[in-house]
Amino acid sequence: MAAGLLLKMVGFCVWALFWLGGTATVSTTALAGGDAVVVDARSAVAATDDDFVCATLDWWPPDKCDYGTCSWGRASLLNLNLSNKILLNAVKAFSPLKLRLGGSLQDMLIYDTGDSHQSCTPFVKNTSAMFGFSQGCLPLNRWDELNAFFQKSGAKIIFGLNALNGRVPMPDGSLGGPWNYTNAASFIRYAVNKGYDIHGWELGNELSGSGVGARIDADQYAADVITLKQIIDSTYQGNPSKPLVLAPGGFFDAAWFTELVSKTKPSQMDVITHHIYNLGPGVDDHLIEKILNPSYLDGEASTFSNLQGILKSAGTSTVAWVGEAGGAYNSGHHLVTDAFVFSFWYLDQLGMSSKYDTKSYCRQTLVGGNYGLLNKTTFEPNPDYYSALLWHRLMGTKVLSTTFNGTNKIRTYAHCARNSEGITLLLINLSGNNTNHIYVASEGARTQSARKENRRFGHIPGLGEAAELTREEYHLTPKDGNLQSQQVLLNGNVLATDANGDIPKLEPVQVEGTQPITVGPYSIVFAHIPSFYAPACS
Ligand SMILES: *[C@@H]1O[C@H](CO)[C@@H](O)[C@H](O)[C@H]1NC(C)=O
Ligand SMILES: *[C@@H]1O[C@H](CO)[C@@H](O)[C@H](O)[C@H]1NC(C)=O
Ligand SMILES: *[C@@H]1O[C@H](CO)[C@@H](O)[C@H](O)[C@H]1NC(C)=O
Ligand SMILES: *[C@@H]1O[C@H](CO)[C@@H](O)[C@H](O)[C@H]1NC(C)=O
Ligand SMILES: *[C@@H]1O[C@H](CO)[C@@H](O)[C@H](O)[C@H]1NC(C)=O
Ligand SMILES: *[C@@H]1O[C@H](CO)[C@@H](O)[C@H](O)[C@H]1NC(C)=O
Ligand SMILES: *[C@@H]1O[C@H](CO)[C@@H](O)[C@H](O)[C@H]1NC(C)=O
Repeated sequence: MAAGLLLKMVGFCVWALFWLGGTATVSTTALAGGDAVVVDARSAVAATDDDFVCATLDWWPPDKCDYGTCSWGRASLLNLNLSNKILLNAVKAFSPLKLRLGGSLQDMLIYDTGDSHQSCTPFVKNTSAMFGFSQGCLPLNRWDELNAFFQKSGAKIIFGLNALNGRVPMPDGSLGGPWNYTNAASFIRYAVNKGYDIHGWELGNELSGSGVGARIDADQYAADVITLKQIIDSTYQGNPSKPLVLAPGGFFDAAWFTELVSKTKPSQMDVITHHIYNLGPGVDDHLIEKILNPSYLDGEASTFSNLQGILKSAGTSTVAWVGEAGGAYNSGHHLVTDAFVFSFWYLDQLGMSSKYDTKSYCRQTLVGGNYGLLNKTTFEPNPDYYSALLWHRLMGTKVLSTTFNGTNKIRTYAHCARNSEGITLLLINLSGNNTNHIYVASEGARTQSARKENRRFGHIPGLGEAAELTREEYHLTPKDGNLQSQQVLLNGNVLATDANGDIPKLEPVQVEGTQPITVGPYSIVFAHIPSFYAPACS
């Protein structure tokens, strides 16, 4: 029976086992009293895109304010300083980072391609207009500048198109009539003529279900998606690769999403995108309690699971992405959604969405609002930036299921390692109680048998026996133990850019593989375990 103990982790001792052929055989003596992470390494339960991590850029102008605070600064696609070195390095570090360009105002934006015969003016505050601003316009020279930046930084672009052009009010309160695609089509042609590499074109923002500013029926939306698909097919005719068609970039609504999927199947819509703001409004005083509450975090699983079910039963090639997720709506909450504590929510979301076959996850925002991965004035990375980068570098595309039998304050996720042997575990400790850590020492016999298993299943050439069993750990904790700190420590050292604006190296600590893993109070650990034999990963 090819099951063996691969590592033991302690807090009050968490063990990872590997599980083959249906049963986990473990030595009861060594595990007595311990909690265990069991990774089912036989087969993957889901797969993500290679570039799963995605972030958004929005259109909000500096005078966008929520609850008396104006949190956007110059973070709009229309005015972001594209010459900033840290911004460039932060995007480059992912090579590639997916960027989804969009947000509420995208459906009030026209492109200055000459077909509209209107002057190209920025968004202007207008309290009686939808979202508080009148129509805005993207000048083509700004679009050219943006594309120069995307090319230089190696970003993969998803552009959210205005889906409200041409709509008229319907008797039921929705907006209807066919989409007027004239302006969008000429904008797409412009991109093709310029040779701009657009990874995907997305139709509309938050118009699904009951909508946010406005809503459109699923039946009409499906027809418009098919129109977009035809525009793309004809405009990109003869191009070696065609961009993806994405829609609707809105909140999940089972009936509405089911209809959109069924009327665009089997292959008119590549990706169905949904948005997540499950923590409530940014002004909420209980955001941290919600983030640290495992049951609250689990609440989002039903959305992922429902959507996965819809896609599975539809007979479609459409896959799911989270197209925009900022956790707390109306621009987030300073010192929560831009602080260390938000990594608990964010990494848990990345882990959970992956398990339900979400291919990509776009964080609101790369920069702007109170939920930026980067500080909007200095561009210095906030803690979640480093969480995203570690995920991107360590978690492979194949998702493994895990079970943990201890407290629900420990969250566990496992993927095949990225571009490397073995697996990577993501362990999140939502508990801050300073209980005694009980160290569980390894037993000689166990070590020996683990080594034998190892040799049998995957000797890594060039490494000695000791190296074979070492693993790499990345421990994330907040500066000064303050969950609301905007600085994060990696293995005890503050992460910050250097004088050149370079993103720091993310160095692990090497740990003897037979040692347990400690996940400190209120901390996050990525553990890359090269010697973990997982048939699913080979
Ligand atoms: C999580 O943190 C608590 C202290 O808050 C600690 O007692 C526990 O051992 C940690 N869990 C793990 C698995 O390390
Ligand atoms: C968790 O599983 C391990 C191994 O099966 C066992 O030794 C331990 O007692 C379990 N812990 C709990 C809290 O059930
Ligand atoms: C943009 O950033 C560059 C480089 O950091 C700086 O020199 C320039 O002054 C900035 N421009 C604006 C408008 O802030
Ligand atoms: C669609 O929009 C364009 C401007 O982009 C306008 O010229 C045209 O008249 C509109 N078409 C219809 C049918 O309203
Ligand atoms: C403000 O928006 C309302 C509603 O869309 C519109 O009727 C009005 O003309 C706008 N005012 C200005 C000054 O643009
Ligand atoms: C951005 O960084 C500056 C300098 O560290 C800090 O004073 C400011 O509070 C940060 N802004 C936000 C919104 O986090
Ligand atoms: C800490 O432990 C005590 C006693 O075990 C428990 O009542 C309390 O809910 C715990 N607090 C947290 C934040 O886990």
